[in-house]
Amino acid sequence: MAQRVKKAVFPVGGLGTRFLPATKAMPKEMLPIIDKPLIQYAVEEAQAAGIEEFIFVTGRGKSAIEDHFDQANELEKFLAARGKTKELDAIRRWLPSAGKVAYVRQPAPLGLGHAVWCARTLVGDEPFAVLLADDLVQAEEPCLGQMMTAHASTGGNLVAVMDVPRSQVDRYGVLDVLRTQGRLIAARTVVEKPSPAEAPSTLSIIGRYILQPSVFSHLSRLKQGTGGEIQLTDALALTIGEEPFHGYRFEGRRFDCGDKVGFLEATMAFAMERADMGEAAREIARQHSMPKPLSNGDDAYRPRILNA
Ligand code: G1P
Repeated sequence: MAQRVKKAVFPVGGLGTRFLPATKAMPKEMLPIIDKPLIQYAVEEAQAAGIEEFIFVTGRGKSAIEDHFDQANELEKFLAARGKTKELDAIRRWLPSAGKVAYVRQPAPLGLGHAVWCARTLVGDEPFAVLLADDLVQAEEPCLGQMMTAHASTGGNLVAVMDVPRSQVDRYGVLDVLRTQGRLIAARTVVEKPSPAEAPSTLSIIGRYILQPSVFSHLSRLKQGTGGEIQLTDALALTIGEEPFHGYRFEGRRFDCGDKVGFLEATMAFAMERADMGEAAREIARQHSMPKPLSNGDDAYRPRILNA
């Protein structure tokens, strides 16, 4: 039985240049899908999976995230005085308890591997989860929860994976598949952002990981990889053979909210699922549906909803 995972790391140091000007003075992780910031979806997913300690790897200009996960005393008083219990609940219910949230700065944007490495002292010598808020998963059972169940028997390092079109593998860490057993995939190695021609498969990592602390010693020794950054994928490749390593083909629909089209799709999909606006969202979709397919041959217009 694997050791229980109690801590989660949220790398939130990225600059969000793809969403400028919206992200000029606001962290990209605070962009809302309807009325909830992306980072809150990730934190709630972690809470639902039993995570008790929340470690944010932040950077300059990210203080709105700290404020969001702190009590807002003035606002609470204001809402309480007016009897706005629903609104009060909406800002309180998901708040981690005092002392269970920690922030550490990544001094320079040196990559995802470096961001995770910056959390090493706070994580200590125990397994931990990593959640990337850009990857939003709509699922009956939240993605990390599914992974926790699988991890209880696999142990080691476990990453969420899904097939993506071959033309898009150069945006992901990709598995060199050894064998598949149900939703679990054993891999020979993993490669960061391979070219479509060279990719060993189309099975790609999306932003949910359960990792062993041994990954930190590999990260410490890593040189800059793809894109001049310290890559988490490269450190994971080095653990294969030392620790069990599996991909987990999660159940659910994933949206790339780091991309404007993906963000729009997520907004529509989440709106359609909501009791308070599902009907209205479906009506909007009907009104705007076109007689011709959206794709006019230009890849940029092709819907990028990817089902796992
Ligand atoms: C990161 C990882 C990559 C992973 C992806 C998932 O890339 O480096 O291995 O597949 O997240 O979203 P990024 O999106 O930061 O370029």
